[in-house]
Amino acid sequence: MSAIAFARQNQQRFLDELKALLRIPSISTDPAHRADVRQAATTLAAELQRIGMENVQLIETTGTSPTGHPLVYADWLHAEGAPTVLFYGHYDVQPPEPLDEWITPPFEPTERDGNLYARGAVDDKGQMFMHIKAVESLFAAHGRLPLNVRFLIEGEEEVGGEGIAHYVASHPANLQADFAVVSDTHMFAPGLPTLCIGLRGMIYTEIEVRSARADLHSGYGGAAPNSFNALAHILSRIKDESGKIQIPGILDAVLAPDAAELDSWRSLPFDEQEFRESVLGSQAIVGDSRFTLFERLWAQPTFDVHGIRGGFIGEGAKTVIPAKATAKASMRLAPNMTATDTFRRFSEFVQQVCPAGVAVEVRLIHSAEPSLIAIDNPWIRAAAASMTEVWGRETVFVRSGGSIPIVGDLQRHLHLPCIMMGFGLPDDNLHAPNEKFCLQNFHLGIESILRFLESVASRKSAS
Ligand code: BES
Ligand code: MN
Ligand code: MN
Repeated sequence: MSAIAFARQNQQRFLDELKALLRIPSISTDPAHRADVRQAATTLAAELQRIGMENVQLIETTGTSPTGHPLVYADWLHAEGAPTVLFYGHYDVQPPEPLDEWITPPFEPTERDGNLYARGAVDDKGQMFMHIKAVESLFAAHGRLPLNVRFLIEGEEEVGGEGIAHYVASHPANLQADFAVVSDTHMFAPGLPTLCIGLRGMIYTEIEVRSARADLHSGYGGAAPNSFNALAHILSRIKDESGKIQIPGILDAVLAPDAAELDSWRSLPFDEQEFRESVLGSQAIVGDSRFTLFERLWAQPTFDVHGIRGGFIGEGAKTVIPAKATAKASMRLAPNMTATDTFRRFSEFVQQVCPAGVAVEVRLIHSAEPSLIAIDNPWIRAAAASMTEVWGRETVFVRSGGSIPIVGDLQRHLHLPCIMMGFGLPDDNLHAPNEKFCLQNFHLGIESILRFLESVASRKSAS
């Protein structure tokens, strides 16, 4: 039986196994879910063992990360002379809140109109699981693998991935491969095979303003500095009304996409109103109008506030001047910007615009470098060809506004061409309530990966 026939015959079982993985609430940022995160790791390790992978192990991470969730590693390296693929994915998920907006509970995976709904369905358990099921199908079809395979699956992607960054930098020999496959992005449109060739980086920060020793009766207003007013002032200075970032020097570093790439973006099938309505769900599309929408999404930096904590948020009213206010805020970095330089400029600017009478502290929580993938290599070309065969349409190359911290490290430390073959859809609600994964994409994604692996298996390894 061919590997694809095996995958088709086992679709229901694959889906049931994915559901079991999705029931584990592996929320990496929440200390209360430490054991669940580990449980997801051991479940994956057992599955890799079961399908025939070797050297299956949990690798404890030694980054500076406070969370410290293990990496899952496995390999099978007996296809002499054949290429080696490194599969990357993450088994951690974002927090599911607000819970009352989920139609069915986040950790009770439910099928509805051709989709599987659950936290992690598409980001990234469902997509990472496609790699495992593709490899299982190859084992079933050939009794062995036609190429060498390594898996490196992390549990801290959603919190910045410091552990894996440290591991990749310090153990390059353990990860030797010809190319990496990452399925953690989405297709540009339903049914349109897509390879992602660029990601933004990020600095995630916490800004803390202190205005007094302790909270005060707001009758002192007019004389007393107010931490919340000051914080609001600072946050509002970072962009102007048109969305242009005001931090000096930030935009100078940005590497603009070349004419050919800009051209290819213009021919993507895209309806702005449809995007506004069904993806953003907003009244307008905003941003720095000197740039096209795709430049703003994929090739320009951003500043966004994620939450503000402190002060009085109870029912009713309390006349208080809060002594302390904290905001979580991040910047996305465009290619050529660096996290260190951006954070330095960001914190200097915050100090500069901080109103008199309060003290502000800016802390870096995590960061990721941006990445751009060269498309002039045989692995990308083979991936595009395989996607085109499976989906019956020409594969498009796009970038993404999100970040996957390890992709930059795989390039820098392992010199690996990264193939970002993602099968999510733009309206999959990742990081939001009612996250879903299109079932058809789960199954065709497995077939795409299979076809790609079989098409490159007869190539010579370069290393
Ligand atoms: N899978 C996403 C990244 C992504 C999102 C790629 C949308 C393409 C389209 C990933 O899990 C993610 O959410 N990454 C974080 C990284 C951050 C915590 C450093 C992100 O982008 O916010
Ligand atoms: Mn992801
Ligand atoms: Mn994510």
